[in-house]
Amino acid sequence: MTMSRRYKAALAIIALVSLGACKAGGDDPGLEFAPQMYHSVPYEPLTQIKDKDAGSWLSNREDGLGEFYNSNPNNPYEQNVLTPVEGTVRRTGNGMLPYRLGKDDVELAAQIPNPLPDSPAILAEGKRLYELYCDHCHGKTGKADGPVAPVYLGIPSYTAPAQRDLSEGHVFHVITYGIRRMGAHGSQLSPEKRWKIVKYVKQLQQQ
Ligand code: HEC
Repeated sequence: MTMSRRYKAALAIIALVSLGACKAGGDDPGLEFAPQMYHSVPYEPLTQIKDKDAGSWLSNREDGLGEFYNSNPNNPYEQNVLTPVEGTVRRTGNGMLPYRLGKDDVELAAQIPNPLPDSPAILAEGKRLYELYCDHCHGKTGKADGPVAPVYLGIPSYTAPAQRDLSEGHVFHVITYGIRRMGAHGSQLSPEKRWKIVKYVKQLQQQ
């Protein structure tokens, strides 16, 4: 059985129309399915739709504005987010403050105590992280015998006289910014993780 010409033509038109609806690009997200699911009613920090009529075709807002209008008229430029008050600091889940010392403040850094308590769980996590980030150079026991050490020369043993007594704050600073031939690890490890590694390094220093 062959399809009638008319049927074929109708199919072609339907295909064209449906494909046409797939267009998206630039600021145009294309046709949205159930748009009320995507456009948040509360102020959204990362979007700002200033067109008061946007989405008016499906709006049931009490203020009569378009459904998608999402801007805060009380803020400059109708922004939804403002810069935090000066002096505001980001707090992590455990209340730890950001590390503010600069690369050259080595001596000040050395005086900072480890904010984490002594606990087997913290030490174990420090060991795990050490094995991920440090061990290939510094070696499992910190004796500068990691697999990379024969190539990346100049790695000190943690138990060498000049290393043994380095304070926890100093080691934290070294992990954060690196020192001389050693690179910085601050961007890869949160402060909390760095202090955990420090606990473990402290143990290796004493072995
Ligand atoms: C790519 C190899 C490499 C990695 C990875 C590495 N280090 Fe180092 N580390 C070095 C080298 C080389 C030195 C000696 C730097 C110098 O004095 O020139 C050093 C020095 C140190 C020192 C002594 C600093 C001082 O004041 O003398 C400490 C402590 C230290 N590293 C801890 C760590 C910890 C903890 C990690 C993991 C987060 C780590 N390192 C990762 C190569 C590495």
